[in-house]
Amino acid sequence: MSNSAKTPLDVIKQQLRQHNHSYYILDDPSIPDAEYDRLMQQLLTIEAEHPQWVTADSPSQRVGDKPLAGFQQVTHALPMLSLDNAFNGEDLREFDRRVRERLNKSSGRPVEEDIIYACEPKLDGIAVSLTYKNGLLVTGATRGDGSRGEDITQNMRTLDSVPLRLIGKGWPETLEIRGEVYMPSAGFEALNKSLLDKGLKTYVNPRNTAAGSLRQLDSKVTAQRPLELCAYSIGLVSDKNALPTKHFDILHQLQAWGFKINAEMRRVQGIEACLNYYQALASKRTLLAYEIDGIVFKVDQLELQKSLGFVARAPRWAIAHKFPAQEEMTQLLKVDFQVGRTGVVTPVARLKPVFVGGVTVSNATLHNMDEIRRLDLHLGDTVIVRRAGDVIPKVVKVVLERRQVPAEIINPPATCPMCDGPVEREEGEAALRCVNGLTCGAQIVQAIKHFVSRKAMDIDGLGEKQVQTLVEMGKVKHVADLYTLDHLALVGMDRMGEKSASNLLSALQKSKSTSLAKFLFSLGIREVGEATARSLAIHFGGLANIKSADMESLLAVEDVGPIVANRILHFFADNDTLAVVEALQSAGLQWLEFDPAEVQSKQQSLPFNALTFVVTGTLASLSRDELKFQLQELGAKVMSSVSKKTDYLVAGEKAGSKLEKAQALQVAVLDESQALSMIAKALD
Ligand code: IVH
Repeated sequence: MSNSAKTPLDVIKQQLRQHNHSYYILDDPSIPDAEYDRLMQQLLTIEAEHPQWVTADSPSQRVGDKPLAGFQQVTHALPMLSLDNAFNGEDLREFDRRVRERLNKSSGRPVEEDIIYACEPKLDGIAVSLTYKNGLLVTGATRGDGSRGEDITQNMRTLDSVPLRLIGKGWPETLEIRGEVYMPSAGFEALNKSLLDKGLKTYVNPRNTAAGSLRQLDSKVTAQRPLELCAYSIGLVSDKNALPTKHFDILHQLQAWGFKINAEMRRVQGIEACLNYYQALASKRTLLAYEIDGIVFKVDQLELQKSLGFVARAPRWAIAHKFPAQEEMTQLLKVDFQVGRTGVVTPVARLKPVFVGGVTVSNATLHNMDEIRRLDLHLGDTVIVRRAGDVIPKVVKVVLERRQVPAEIINPPATCPMCDGPVEREEGEAALRCVNGLTCGAQIVQAIKHFVSRKAMDIDGLGEKQVQTLVEMGKVKHVADLYTLDHLALVGMDRMGEKSASNLLSALQKSKSTSLAKFLFSLGIREVGEATARSLAIHFGGLANIKSADMESLLAVEDVGPIVANRILHFFADNDTLAVVEALQSAGLQWLEFDPAEVQSKQQSLPFNALTFVVTGTLASLSRDELKFQLQELGAKVMSSVSKKTDYLVAGEKAGSKLEKAQALQVAVLDESQALSMIAKALD
C-alpha cells in the first residue's frame, strides 16, 4: 500500500470533517443529519473495534468545530458536551443497563429500584450558554468546539425569552445556564416565505435558520428573527447549595428565575416509562409548534450523575433517543409537469424511493420553474428531501459535490402537457398556466364544479364524483355539454337513479333563466368573483358589451383594475372559450339585459348606494348569504375581504381575522342586530 492511499477510515474521517465545516461554520449542511449520524456511527464502530486507530484529530474526539471568525471567543468554564444517540428501543435499554451496571460497581451494591429519568424533547436548534453575575446577564456564547465558543451576547439580548435580569430570589452569584435556541415552525415558514418573495436564498430547515440567525454580526438582524430559548441544564454555578439536587427540580428553579423550560418535560421511573414517553411524543411530534429530533433522557439525581461521569464526547448519564430522520438523500430521476385544476402547470420531482419522515417518498413538488432554478436542480442530481410531519415532501437542496457532469438542465414545457394548448407565465407570477380554462381536460372538472355551484348556476344534484364520471366517459367536454345531457345519458351512473336523473334535468332546465351577473360569475374567469361579476353586469348591461369592451372601458368599472381587466380581455379573446359561451347561449341560457344608464340611475337612488360591506362570523337569525342579499337589494356592495374601502364590517359570532383587520383599519363594526336595524331603517 502506498503512503498516499486512503483507508476507508480516512475517507470517513475526511467526509465527517467536511460536513462538520458546512454544518458548524457555514450553517449550511451539505448532507442530511441522518446521513451524518450514520457516518459518525460507522466511525465509532470502527474505532471501538480498533481502539489503537483512534487519533487525537478524529472527528469522534470533538464536538463541534472552530468558532466563526468575526466574533470574540469565549472559553467555557465547563466544557459543553454532546449526547450519545440511541436509534431504537434496544439501544435505550442498553443505555439503562450500562447506567445500572456502573452505579452497581461504584456503590458496590446492586441498584434495585428503577432509575428516575427526566424526559425532555430534543429541540432542534443550537446550544448556547448564558452566564449571569449577581442576577444580570453578562455573557452569551455558542457551543463552538465544546471548549471555546463565540461571544453572541449582543444577539442573545435580542431574544424575548432571554431574561436580562433574573427574577425571584435565591440565585447564586454566578449562574451559567445552558439551553437550546430554536425557531418555531411557523416563524421558519414565514421567514422563508418572505425571503422567497424577495428572491433571496431560503433556509433548508428551522435548525439551520436558528443557527444562521444567531450568528449574525449585526444583532438587528437577529432581533427580527423569531427565535426562542429553552433552558435545559446548568453550567458553572458559584454556589451549588442554591440549587436543588435533582435535574428536574433544577429546571423548575430556572423557570422561577425567569427562564422558559419545555412544557412537555416529565419525570418518570424506569426505562420502560421512558419508552412510553418516547412513543407519546413521537405521535405528538407533528402537532408541536417547534421541531424536535428525538427525546433526551437524563438520570435525574445529580449525585448519580456525578458518579456516572463522562466519556470523551458525552455524559454517561444522558442519551438522545432519535426520531426517524426528516431529511434524507436520494436521486432525482426525472421531472414531470402536471396540470392542476386551475391550470397551473407544476413540476413534480420523481425520486428514487427513500424512507423519510416515517414514509417512503418517491415524488416531491417543485412548485414552479423559479424553484428549480433557485435549487439549481438538474436531472440525475443527488438531492436532500425533507418531509416534516404532514407537510408534503420537498426537495430542499442539491448535493452539488455528487453531481455527475455534464448534468441535463430541466426545461419548462412549451405547451400544456394535458391539452397541448398555450401556456403562459404572467408578469409577477411564478406559475406557468394553461390558459384554456374552460376546455383543458385537467381544468374541466373544476370548471364544471364551479359552474353548477350554488352561487353560480345553482344546479343541484351533481357531485364531484359524478362530474368526474361524466368527464371521464366523454359525455361532458365543457360546461355547455351539461345542457345536452338526457335521461339516457344519466341513468345508470353511480348514485343516479330515475328520480335523481329527472331532478338533475329539471335543475338544469331551471338554471337556464339566470341573471347576467350569475352567468358571468359561473364562467369562472380568474379574479372575477361574485362582486366583480355584479359590477360588470350593472356597468355594461349586456354580454355583447362586455365581450367587446376594451381595456379603457373595463377600467371604468368600479373595482376593476388592470389585472382583472386583462383577465377579462384574455378570456373573451380565446376562440375555444368563446365557442363554449356561444354554446351556452344556444342551449337556451338567458337573462335580462338592460340599459346600463337606467340601472345606474336606479342604483344611485338606492339607500346603500356607494356603501361597501363585508359580512363575517356566524349570524343568529339568518345566513350570511341572506344578509348579503338584503344589503345588495338596497344597493350596497358586499365584498369578501376587508380593506380601507370597506364602510362596515358586520361581525357575527366567532368573527376572526376579518374583525381584527377591520379594527386595525378602523373600519366601523356592526353586530347582527345593528346591521338589521340599519336595513329596517333604510326600508322604512
Ligand atoms: S442536554 C451534557 N437537553 O442536543 C448534556 N441537549 O447532541 C448536554 N439538545 O448540544 C445536552 N434539546 O444542542 C440537552 N433537552 C435537551 C436538548 C439538548 C436539544 C441539543 C443540544 C446538545 C445536543 C446534543
